[in-house]
Amino acid sequence: MEYTNFHPPILKPSLSKKLQRWSIVTLLTLYSLILAGSIVRSTGAGMGCPDWPKCFGCWIPPTQEYQLPTNYQNIFHEKRIKKSKKIAKMMSYLGLKQIAQSITKKNQQQPQAIPFNFAKAWTEYINRILGIFVGICITIVCVLSWPYRNIRWVGLLVLCLVILQGGLGAWVVATHLLAGLVTLHMLIALLIIACMLLIIHRNRPCILLSHRYKPWIILSLLLTGIQIFWGTKVRALVDQMLIIPDWRATHCILTLGNTFLFHRFFSLIILVCNGYIIFRCLQLKQWRSTYWAIALGFMLVLNIILGMILAYCQLPVWAQPLHLMLTTLFFSVQWYGFLSCSSSQQ
Ligand code: HEM
Repeated sequence: MEYTNFHPPILKPSLSKKLQRWSIVTLLTLYSLILAGSIVRSTGAGMGCPDWPKCFGCWIPPTQEYQLPTNYQNIFHEKRIKKSKKIAKMMSYLGLKQIAQSITKKNQQQPQAIPFNFAKAWTEYINRILGIFVGICITIVCVLSWPYRNIRWVGLLVLCLVILQGGLGAWVVATHLLAGLVTLHMLIALLIIACMLLIIHRNRPCILLSHRYKPWIILSLLLTGIQIFWGTKVRALVDQMLIIPDWRATHCILTLGNTFLFHRFFSLIILVCNGYIIFRCLQLKQWRSTYWAIALGFMLVLNIILGMILAYCQLPVWAQPLHLMLTTLFFSVQWYGFLSCSSSQQ
């Protein structure tokens, strides 16, 4: 196959500048939300607000403990347990007995009461505010995209996904970060990002690569999907282990067993596959594909380094959100590459 004689066609003007601007703002807010959500998880701030959508029963969280009733710990503990029991009951009613059992087990593992912590409450609160902002931005994108037949259904889908994601977020809190729900929450976030990039691309098609790259990019997206799914398994194991006091200091990551080993090994396969795509892109000597290839390679290598820091430097709290953030950016660059070679065929 000859890849080197590819010349990008002339670009079409954007359908709507306003839609494009709002879509880009939405995308940036989505990235911030993913980063904030991951900081919430790695610092344990999810429990900073024991209730949802309010925080300690207020729309704006308190700044001092004395602003709360004296028995607030018992009040919110009971409320949370009651809510997660309801969810467990609903799950077992739906036939999802295993999930119901894990929720009940998580309930039993919870400390009797969670004291007020200013930093955690406000970290979680900022995360929720960002969530509301994303909701508003996506509603605007949905309205602005309605006149365009090739975009409107993506806009509507993304709005539905965001509503679903909001509800799921409440469940994640109520079930004390149940692993399966955290994973689903993350996968839906990636789907929302993919839809936003699709809107941006359809509004102003940008050709980066020849359609002949498509099979390679599809393969590489598939491999990334597997790696992300496996990463969430590693994360679930890490979360289980971190319940043990001093686990970070006293244990080695290899005690996580094959789940971690597979995740580590699989990044080599991803490196080889993407390395090949990057090599072919650089041969094109087109500035667009060169930038795309450099961005892809940079994010991949940096993410592997971050994974290694996580694994061999006792899981530093700052590296957890960065590993997830770089994974999201890496996936976004790959997906945009895929969209771009799909349209070069038309
Ligand atoms: C292609 C490269 C990689 C991708 C796309 C990737 C992706 C991911 C994802 C999505 C997670 C779950 C994060 C979360 O839910 O918060 C994760 C977790 C993790 N990954 Fe990777 N990973 C890569 C390479 C590596 C490498 C090379 C290592 C180590 C040698 C590694 C070690 C870890 C560890 C220790 C966790 C658990 C971290 C935590 O609990 O926050 N990863 N990875």
